[in-house]
Amino acid sequence: MDQAPRHDGRPELQLALGDITEQDTDAIVNAANSSLLGGGGVDGAIHRAAGPELVQCCRGLGGCDTGEAKVTPGFRLTARWIIHTVGPVWHGGDRGERALLYSCYEASLALADEVGARSIAFPSISTGAFGYPISQAAETAVAAVRNTPTAVELVRFVCFAHDTWKAYETILDSTVG
Ligand code: APR
Repeated sequence: MDQAPRHDGRPELQLALGDITEQDTDAIVNAANSSLLGGGGVDGAIHRAAGPELVQCCRGLGGCDTGEAKVTPGFRLTARWIIHTVGPVWHGGDRGERALLYSCYEASLALADEVGARSIAFPSISTGAFGYPISQAAETAVAAVRNTPTAVELVRFVCFAHDTWKAYETILDSTVG
């Protein structure tokens, strides 16, 4: 299958306040842990909404390293695919956290291209239980999506809380698209 980008490799970026499980994009991204067997936060919400088939499917994936990604069907979600990625735990910033977070976005977009997803919704990876400072995470998310060539045409950053939304809005407004 020809995976060459159909456009200039720079997707439209959208910002939304809401629940990622309700997104109508082809793929949604899960901020998972390395077991891929579920957890709290956005991971728990996605597993609840997708149904028990999701954890059954994840058991066959053999986990996932930090900064990498794996894909499953969306099961009961509107989204056709769930891309599970494992963000870094924040340890103060000197343990390669930025490169690992950047890699989550690159790996997720690469998998989206592989399955043919044209639209994708990302949560704010690592900024909940994993403690990554929101404004730094938003800067990295936006930089990674802008700098990664992809056939994906629409990337939506879905923020669950207003302070997260505000951090993304500030970054999107202050950087050239
Ligand atoms: N939709 C969108 N965003 C959500 C939702 C939701 N339904 N629920 C939570 N969030 C937001 C949080 O507010 C936060 O901004 O997702 C962001 C990431 O938070 P976490 O879900 O805690 O993810 P992370 O910090 O990457 O930690 C991952 O948490 O639950 C566990 O299994 C998961 O161990 C892993 C760890």
